[in-house]
Amino acid sequence: MVCHRKTFRTIFRLIFPLSKDTQSSHVKEQTLITSRLNTTKSEEIFAAAQKLMPGGVSSPVRAFKSVGGQPIVFDRVKGAYAWDVDGNRYIDYIGTWGPAICGHAHPEVLKALHDALDKGTSFGAPCSLENVLAEMVIDAVPSIEMVRFVNSGTEACMSVLRLMRAFTGREKVIKFEGCYHGHADMFLVKAGSGVATLGLPDSPGVPKSTTGNTLTAPFNNLEAVKALFEENPDEIAGVILEPVVGNAGFIPPDAGFLPGLQEIVREHGALLVFDEVMTGFRIAYGGAQEKFGITPDLTTLGKIIGGGLPVGAYGGRRDIMAMVAPAGPMYQAGTLSGNPLAMTAGIKTLELLRQPGTYDQLDRITKRLADGLLRIAKENGHAACGGQISGMFGLFFTDGPVHNYEDAKLSDLNKFSRFHRGMLEHGVYLAPSQFEAGFMSLAHTDADIDHTLEAAQAVLSSL
Ligand SMILES: Cc1ncc(COP(=O)(O)O)c(C=O)c1O
Repeated sequence: MVCHRKTFRTIFRLIFPLSKDTQSSHVKEQTLITSRLNTTKSEEIFAAAQKLMPGGVSSPVRAFKSVGGQPIVFDRVKGAYAWDVDGNRYIDYIGTWGPAICGHAHPEVLKALHDALDKGTSFGAPCSLENVLAEMVIDAVPSIEMVRFVNSGTEACMSVLRLMRAFTGREKVIKFEGCYHGHADMFLVKAGSGVATLGLPDSPGVPKSTTGNTLTAPFNNLEAVKALFEENPDEIAGVILEPVVGNAGFIPPDAGFLPGLQEIVREHGALLVFDEVMTGFRIAYGGAQEKFGITPDLTTLGKIIGGGLPVGAYGGRRDIMAMVAPAGPMYQAGTLSGNPLAMTAGIKTLELLRQPGTYDQLDRITKRLADGLLRIAKENGHAACGGQISGMFGLFFTDGPVHNYEDAKLSDLNKFSRFHRGMLEHGVYLAPSQFEAGFMSLAHTDADIDHTLEAAQAVLSSL
């Protein structure tokens, strides 16, 4: 992948100098770029996969539908890199959508997993590793006094919703447009992530009766939230949100939004729930709630706490968690929940993350990348805005500012697609959607950032 890059760039520049190209030259340029990467085996495997699985994938955004072109089939991952089945190497800024914060296949995580494997893969009975991870989560996340482990972020969010309703005796819930809380029926209303990427804000198959109690507001808009509470007195169980949005692209909360939201929610006797499936242990060790100093009533987690194995969790105030079966009457269960492998990978990952300096390093290196991308985009005459918090970043092709999903939709999606494809051709693997955030890991080096920024210069100067 790395070989012939300079030669290619020289030829590319000779054919397409730095001027803004015409529509027809975009097409030629894309063809030229695309033809450079040999992805024959990826194409064969994906063609076969499409006959076997809907869209050829196990999760929609992986199919590259919104950015066009064929998805890349991975063969292996290590540190900051992924190798595809054709032998191309990519600097990976997805990190399996967040969990690989210490770098893929970290040797200490692998060693711990090998040791755990010998004892069996699933117990279906209590295991002491659950206590260890539970204590680590409770120590780290300000709002969590008790925790329940599940198998995915989706499961965590659907369970927390049941708990919100059980505790308050109210059925309505507020979510924000463009926020994604997994694919449970009641959250598939103006949702983000793949739903936004594919332009399917509300999915068929979800009964109206299920989503009738899901109210939506624009992110960063306290007036809209106030209005919903006023229109539905004593009916709203609570508000769930991504405290930093990653599923409509990267959108941070405005100053005052999170405290203001907490005040409104409290005033109405409802619950505040932070969905930290993405931001937990990424924005800070204690998640966005530590970073912004706002303690919600309940929190959902996933991704990083499984260290690359399937995990989710929900937790919060002890009096609320006491509602969960068998301590209380709210039923929720799982065959593989708390299994020893996932617990092991999670424990080792958190041990690595709590070493001094990790979040400073993540912040420093992500800032270098995010600032660099924005500067290069602007220097090359593109409307762009973006930013980062700790190891999470984003770039929109619009002047911005982007406060919510409506603003995010103003981004030039066609340009994003061409940027994405160009970066791929230069060995940089970005999320294949404008409506996803990027993720940095502790394994990324300054040399990786240099390479990425060079690639961005080559691509953005040619768009
Ligand atoms: C904020 C948030 N909540 C929930 C989920 C769902 O998690 P999972 O894909 O593990 O079901 C995601 C997934 O990306 C997420 O980003």
